[in-house]
Amino acid sequence: VHLLESEPIDARRVLPLDLGEGLVLSATTERDAPDAYAVVDAERDRLREWLPWVDATTSLAVERDFLIGIEQANAAGMGLHATIRQDGEFCGFVGLRIDHMHRSAEVGYWLSGRYVGRGVMLRAVAAVFDAGFTTLGLHRMELLAAVGNARSRAIAERLGMTLEGVRREAEELATGFVDLAMYAVLVQDWPGRAAVVTRSEQTGL
Ligand SMILES: CC(C)(COP(=O)(O)OP(=O)(O)OC[C@H]1O[C@@H](n2cnc3c(N)ncnc32)[C@H](O)[C@@H]1OP(=O)(O)O)[C@@H](O)C(=O)NCCC(=O)NCCS
Repeated sequence: VHLLESEPIDARRVLPLDLGEGLVLSATTERDAPDAYAVVDAERDRLREWLPWVDATTSLAVERDFLIGIEQANAAGMGLHATIRQDGEFCGFVGLRIDHMHRSAEVGYWLSGRYVGRGVMLRAVAAVFDAGFTTLGLHRMELLAAVGNARSRAIAERLGMTLEGVRREAEELATGFVDLAMYAVLVQDWPGRAAVVTRSEQTGL
């Protein structure tokens, strides 16, 4: 069962998702701005390597304005954007940008360096794909990562996504234009991972 194009999904009906062991995805709001900005500001050198917006994020106000747009995208059914917290502590973001016309979505994400290397993002991406394929009735999930971004590409590969091609010089990073590896998975190829993800009403986030 999935909701039709004529019934835009409010991401707040899909979230929060409790992934167990203290890991929770909740609908992103502007109230996340102080936590997010603190990480961006402290980790600029690390994040700048693969994210194009780091240098433009010059203040808490800029971060808040960005998150207001994200909150509106969630409310309008154009996105499924979640804030990742471990035991209540901010880890990063994961989100789907949804193309309802073709029932496809593109995932994006980043993590604080404190939480890299623990499988947090792998579980977070698997959970939003599950929600996308089941509750949102999506057909295709895409993941684009710079060819040199081994950590990000490892997520696509661990999830069994197919490398469909390379978009040449499709992203401008601080170091210049980079090629993007394009991965995708179709609903019929997505193993039923939904069982490991339980919807949590109790968290109230
Ligand atoms: C891309 C990014 C989110 C990847 O984070 P990550 O923590 O490496 O990703 P995962 O959640 O898949 O974790 C995998 C790592 O956790 C380890 N791990 C520990 N427990 C694990 C578990 N239960 N399951 C899976 N992996 C586990 C894996 O061994 C792996 O570490 P390794 O690469 O040193 O072997 C992170 O590097 C990041 O934020 N980068 C900067 C921003 C960015 O590049 N964004 C994406 C742009 S396309």
